[in-house]
Amino acid sequence: MTEVAPPIRMRGAGYYSANTVGAKLVIDRALPLALRAIGEMDLSGPAPFAIADFGAADGGTSLGLHRAVLSELRTRAPQRQLTLTHTDLPHNDFSTLFRLVQGLLPGREGLGVPGVFSFASGTSFYEPIFPDASVNLGFSATAMHWLSRLPAMISDHVHAVFAVGAARAAFAAQAAADWECILLHRARELAPGGQVVFANFGIDEQGRYLGATGGRNMHERFGAHWRALHVAGLIGKDEVARATFPQYYRSVAEFRAPFDDDTSAVRRAGLVLEECFTVLTPCPYAARFAAGEWTAAEFAAAYVPTLRSWSESMFFGALDPARPEAERRDIIDRFYAAYEAEVAADPAGHAMDYVHCFMRVRKAE
Ligand SMILES: C[S@@+](CC[C@H](N)C(=O)[O-])C[C@H]1O[C@@H](n2cnc3c(N)ncnc32)[C@H](O)[C@@H]1O
Repeated sequence: MTEVAPPIRMRGAGYYSANTVGAKLVIDRALPLALRAIGEMDLSGPAPFAIADFGAADGGTSLGLHRAVLSELRTRAPQRQLTLTHTDLPHNDFSTLFRLVQGLLPGREGLGVPGVFSFASGTSFYEPIFPDASVNLGFSATAMHWLSRLPAMISDHVHAVFAVGAARAAFAAQAAADWECILLHRARELAPGGQVVFANFGIDEQGRYLGATGGRNMHERFGAHWRALHVAGLIGKDEVARATFPQYYRSVAEFRAPFDDDTSAVRRAGLVLEECFTVLTPCPYAARFAAGEWTAAEFAAAYVPTLRSWSESMFFGALDPARPEAERRDIIDRFYAAYEAEVAADPAGHAMDYVHCFMRVRKAE
């Protein structure tokens, strides 16, 4: 049965990028790929050079990458007009994004490259976003593990990494169809010779994935704390079952599949895989704790908000909408407080190490 997933939403008002230091580290790691992409391009064209950031959240984590890429373009093609379009889902906090990009959020640095035409689109990356052949450089970080729909419920866990049998097959099939859909839209939008750089959550060659790299398994702990709310009489069985992330971490083989098959629709649409490798980005919060900078309580108070920044909307959406909003907020606060208390009491092994598959894809000329 197909279920309607609660709307995905990163926490707003700049909370997302202020509390996701690791996401910025991942994007910084993608910069060489973006520079290699523009390094291979003929920049002499008369049309504006268009950059797109797919699933940008509040835009704060990728400003450094865009600043560096735009500055490089300015140097190499000073005559060329430059556009940068941030995209995300319609209920994303675009107001904060605009203020961050324009440097209007107190204490936060803006894009800082004068004369760039800045746009935003609230259209999903599962849809066409740009006119045909109009994008020169696409970029997307840590966004495409969000599926277009929830293909199955996992009643005893919150994430597809624990799905088995038919549920697991349904997630894998949805993820394959979604990846092809994303790529085919980008194939149409890319100008000939244009490129897209992806840094997507995935499962690496050693079976590691976000928050599961040898210590405590983050998704297992999410599930345990969610079920504990039921044991404590705070949430019902339906609310336990509804908490399933519409996410899937693809393996390297799954990411590569449309490129490795010469006859695939993606290859026929002209996309070519130039680079593909996995990267583990250690959790910066756990690293500071390990370095002795923080007590266990300080680590827990910094670490759990980074989990909350992206997971909260799913848990909130799993609660019965008939409950007053304040009650739902209170339950969610208790949920994260319990996770934080666990980390503070026994911090060993808690870390949200990131595991990404980096890819650079080119549209044939
Ligand atoms: C974890 S954030 C990543 C933000 C930023 N790219 C980064 O790496 O820090 C994931 C973002 O993907 C967005 N997202 C999820 N599904 C999407 C879709 N179908 N179309 C566009 N954006 C989507 C979410 O709304 C969210 O802002």
